[in-house]
Amino acid sequence: MRPSQALADYAITEVLALRAALAHSVSNDMAKSKKRPPAQSHSQAPARKRGGYPPPRQSPPATMREGPSAPSLPAAATVTVPFTGNIRAGKNTYVYDAHTYHTKVPPEGIVKLLEYYTRPGQVVLDPFCGSGMTGVAAEKLGRKALLSDLSPAATFIATHLTSPIDADRYLTAVRAVLQEAADLEAKLYHTPCRCCGTLVPMLYMVWSYGVLCPECGREFNLWEVARDEKPSVRESKILTEFDCPHCNIHLKKRALKRTRRHPVQVGYKCCGRGLKEQTAAPGDYDLQALTQIQAGGIPPGLWYPKDRFPEGINTRQPIAAGIERVDQAYTTRALYAMAWLWHRAEHWPDPEVAGKLFFTLTSLYQRVTLFSEFRFWGGSGNTANYNVPFICNEQNVFRAFHRKANTISWYFQSSPRCPRGVEVRKASACDLGHIPSRSVDYVFTDPPFGGNINYSEMNFLWESWLGEHTDTRDEAIINAAQGKGVGEYRALLTRAFRECRRVLKDQGWMTIIFHNSSSEVWAALQAALGDAGFAVHGTQTFDKAHGTFKQFVSQNAVGYDLVLHCQKAEQSAPISGIDARHRQIFDFVRQRVTSDPRRYRVHYLHVARGDEWDLRKLHAEWLAEALPQNGELIGFEEFRTKAAPALVGISSGPLQPTLL
Ligand SMILES: C[S@@+](CC[C@H](N)C(=O)[O-])C[C@H]1O[C@@H](n2cnc3c(N)ncnc32)[C@H](O)[C@@H]1O
Ligand SMILES: [Zn+2]
Ligand SMILES: [Zn+2]
Repeated sequence: MRPSQALADYAITEVLALRAALAHSVSNDMAKSKKRPPAQSHSQAPARKRGGYPPPRQSPPATMREGPSAPSLPAAATVTVPFTGNIRAGKNTYVYDAHTYHTKVPPEGIVKLLEYYTRPGQVVLDPFCGSGMTGVAAEKLGRKALLSDLSPAATFIATHLTSPIDADRYLTAVRAVLQEAADLEAKLYHTPCRCCGTLVPMLYMVWSYGVLCPECGREFNLWEVARDEKPSVRESKILTEFDCPHCNIHLKKRALKRTRRHPVQVGYKCCGRGLKEQTAAPGDYDLQALTQIQAGGIPPGLWYPKDRFPEGINTRQPIAAGIERVDQAYTTRALYAMAWLWHRAEHWPDPEVAGKLFFTLTSLYQRVTLFSEFRFWGGSGNTANYNVPFICNEQNVFRAFHRKANTISWYFQSSPRCPRGVEVRKASACDLGHIPSRSVDYVFTDPPFGGNINYSEMNFLWESWLGEHTDTRDEAIINAAQGKGVGEYRALLTRAFRECRRVLKDQGWMTIIFHNSSSEVWAALQAALGDAGFAVHGTQTFDKAHGTFKQFVSQNAVGYDLVLHCQKAEQSAPISGIDARHRQIFDFVRQRVTSDPRRYRVHYLHVARGDEWDLRKLHAEWLAEALPQNGELIGFEEFRTKAAPALVGISSGPLQPTLL
């Protein structure tokens, strides 16, 4: 089914409003820009295009590829020195929780930069916009924002995060949908209370794989053997090593061959015990219901995606585990519930609300799939991989939908519903033909960091539901499955930065956020900036207040995002000699840790590791200091080696705990 005309019209009105604003600043281009078609993927509803992967892409006409030109305009900003203030922003905000995306940048941090570099009404560009946090920040301050991303999932999320609707109108629809779903919820999720026998909806069901002992060849259920339950859920865990219950040989979970999944636990709440969650082993009622759901399948009138996972880096795991298609990533029950809700959203009479219902469904992402790992303390995370856990938490999709809808409504309530100055479109950063030259006042962007996250792969699940996948040809990542090494990555970034340079006003600033530990990825970024004609005038760290777990424990990660402030220049910065650089690192580290040792100590609360020097922080600060002065690029591994001698014999004093 196609999005209705009303949806398309709504999107066009919004785009035209922004176009009018842009036309003000580039009057020469007005005629041309009005003739151009509206943004393709700014729709409130997904485009149900059931094509192959990747979908065919139309090249723009040659004149567009060059980009329309405008006469040199006066400088956008009077800013002559880069921002030097502190950029620290937390992740515990409504907008952060409303819809997940990989590596979101907290908008509060972006707000500080926009306040510094732009004035109300000016135009900000983010050509790698992801979930559209730059648009959210711009909207807060009354700036116009041009957001684009290669991924239809990203533009879908960005569109909805930058177009909040009335929270009551939204919640009324959610409640009505859930009320209609009550019978289906009962059929799919009812379980008898073990105390009073009342049938209540289960909150979740835990599934565990059976595994084969490589020594005795016999099967056992991992849940029975590897579960280490303690009075406190925080201390409970699934063991990674244990003995075979049949032959007692010591085994490592990772190396075990899986057989099939078994239901092992249900969680529910009922009258007898107040609000306290109760757990029980699945009983006859649950098992019979599962058999019936399995046998009945999904009614033919309900659509759900069956797209095959493409060969990739992250997709290897599910394919190896037998999850070759998107529908296989769900239990039949979860797929039934998802398909039913999707169908309901498609038929919702108010297109604006319908868009938000789809958005609520995509916000569930991996939480309702077999990628959702069981945790004793509840919930399950969204990860930037498709790891198929041995023990999975199958959530009640309707409950998850309800919970998420509440979170989204809080975001809607807290955000302004002013006329929108944000345009979101699907476009490659390497080709911003829709934006006139020298029309943008400021660029803020967060490009992919080498091979850290394979966006097109990790967005595949969303995009299967949305009916359109990322055209990966321009995807600026390092990914062997796409045949892209650091050279290809650098070339794509160069093209993207060239486009940024073309559309930026002459004295305008561009701020880049970057996060990577590998020196060659740093080098690629630096080279791309230089080749595109940008000079880095200042750098600093962006401290996301709650770092990801990986950020804290990974040996090979810079713990802070680095912020680079650039302006147009003809030449890149020179690179100095290696020996001098090592000497500088030694002096730098020595000076920092002796002047404030406690600032650089890490004490882990939840990880069995001793206190350590915070080399990641030192590395980030070193980069922040060295880059603008002499273009020094150095990866974390090399930095660590050179920094180690400087730390010998320095005492740290009493420690401050660091929360994970
Ligand atoms: C680090 S993420 C941006 C996240 C964003 N800052 C946020 O807060 O959600 C990088 C984005 O670049 C996109 N991307 C990769 N190659 C691209 C290209 N050639 N043109 C446009 N977007 C691209 C990816 O789809 C991804 O969404
Ligand atoms: Zn009860
Ligand atoms: Zn055995």
